[in-house]
Amino acid sequence: MMPFLLALFVLGCSVIHCGGVSKHPVILVPGLGASQLWHKKGKEPFYRSLWVYPHKTIFKLDSLVEDMKLNVNSSTGSTFDDRGHTVKACGFGNPKSLTGLVTSWNPFANPYPKMTSSDCDGEEFYEDDSDFDGMNKTFLKMLHNKKGANHVGHWLGAGLSLFDFCGSKIKDYAKKIAGIKNTWKNVHYFKDLIHTLEKKGYRANVDIKGAPYDFRKAPNELTEYYRSLKRLIEDTFSKNGNSKVVLVAHSNGNPVLLYFYNSVVTAEWKDKYIRAHVALGPPWAGATKTVKLMVSGDSVNIPFVKGKRLRPMQRSWPTVAWLMPSPSHGLWKEGEPLIKVDHYSYGVGDYRHLFDDLGYPDGYRLWQTVEREAVADLSKPPEVRELHVFYGINVPTAGHFVYTRTSFPDSDPKTVDERDGDGTVNRRSLEAFKKFRSSKFTNITHHAYPGKDHMDVLRDQRVLSFITNLVFSKEPALPPRHEKSRFPNAASCCGSGWQVPMLTVMVLGLVSTV
Ligand SMILES: *[C@@H]1O[C@H](CO)[C@@H](O)[C@H](O)[C@H]1NC(C)=O
Ligand SMILES: *[C@@H]1O[C@H](CO)[C@@H](O)[C@H](O)[C@H]1NC(C)=O
Ligand SMILES: *[C@@H]1O[C@H](CO)[C@@H](O)[C@H](O)[C@H]1NC(C)=O
Repeated sequence: MMPFLLALFVLGCSVIHCGGVSKHPVILVPGLGASQLWHKKGKEPFYRSLWVYPHKTIFKLDSLVEDMKLNVNSSTGSTFDDRGHTVKACGFGNPKSLTGLVTSWNPFANPYPKMTSSDCDGEEFYEDDSDFDGMNKTFLKMLHNKKGANHVGHWLGAGLSLFDFCGSKIKDYAKKIAGIKNTWKNVHYFKDLIHTLEKKGYRANVDIKGAPYDFRKAPNELTEYYRSLKRLIEDTFSKNGNSKVVLVAHSNGNPVLLYFYNSVVTAEWKDKYIRAHVALGPPWAGATKTVKLMVSGDSVNIPFVKGKRLRPMQRSWPTVAWLMPSPSHGLWKEGEPLIKVDHYSYGVGDYRHLFDDLGYPDGYRLWQTVEREAVADLSKPPEVRELHVFYGINVPTAGHFVYTRTSFPDSDPKTVDERDGDGTVNRRSLEAFKKFRSSKFTNITHHAYPGKDHMDVLRDQRVLSFITNLVFSKEPALPPRHEKSRFPNAASCCGSGWQVPMLTVMVLGLVSTV
């Protein structure tokens, strides 16, 4: 809970300046799978919703996979959509596409704002109403009895968890199904944060902005996105009384921003426009789960579906290659297994061999290219003035995957969990910010929440309070870049009692099972 006095103070402040305290505009950057994507083929006049469109997820999975798949250029290791197939994260700038992930359709009174044609550059978009209608009827019929309702909840929970690489397990959904509302809760994304800020006087698309992107692509192919993001930050700053922006990113949005800080903008630019970066569940150094996506694919919890069916799209995404643990980070030791096949194992140093054995040499090209052009240099401080990192720990998280000679690479493996992580991202990656702690100009705070998973951090009350507090707080005077810093060490903050002693933090990679 927010301290009482602070709450009073904040409630009294709904204008940009209040008692000398600026209200900082907020820009949201989503993770892998968490931007709504739209597409059109050939000369189609309309954009259609593609990701996450529930009907397609449940009933037309193969066509979804085909439409989400990229082609790899074997000579450059970069990717492209089929000629005439345009995929786009519509609604750039507006946070409404980030409240939840469902692009359309809402039989229950739920709060997802619908995207309109203006969100796709003014072009009309089209939803497959016949599908939609059929599904509506089916579900309404099923809803007539409790058993049917459970079924619907189950399907929705499973289908909609597509975005959710964190692996909220089917059994969790089953538990929650008694209240379908709870299943919906799992498809809320930045909604809780947006609503919290709105209660304090923020307005969507004025001082809360959203920066969705084609999450299939890694930073080496996000040049246009970075250009738009830079412009969005500058515009948001100037349209809000020259008040600096607070960036809030979830999951993959964080390494995407790290690249932006390190390779796109200058220190002076960051000082001028960025107040702070709040990182939620950041895979700074990837996650082992992505290696499984390359090998046998991941069903993302869709019932009765094998990972292999989704593999063609997952394998083709530069982001997946980019999030494979990199040998250059030194967080995974060379001999440490990521994939085991009988007694043989592949680690971070064996990707060439692995892709050869998979018969997927384009995967290696993809990986080589992102490794060369976009791998995060963790020794390089991001040099934003404040970085606040929030993440779950003590949740079993995939450590490596075990196949037999016959199950490799087409069947789902046995997952061997590491003891620590947030259920999706390994702890050593969440805490890789410690590698860039030595920056003189960045005040880094970190907050580890035991038992909270990759999605929980998005709606944890402590996180929401921290952000509310931050956006209304006065910025500390900046130490000049050319002088000695007044932050000799990163501050560990907020007295939550959750901080993890450094020593424990260093003991990485211990393996356990669920
Ligand atoms: C692959 O990239 C090269 C170099 O940019 C280009 O010349 C070639 O046409 C591309 N191949 C395909 C299939 O797009
Ligand atoms: C879904 O079906 C119900 C009952 O047939 C109907 O009242 C409702 O308008 C439909 N919703 C949409 C969005 O078509
Ligand atoms: C670092 O940021 C936190 C959160 O905004 C703040 O409480 C703390 O005072 C800052 N530390 C320094 C040294 O400015």
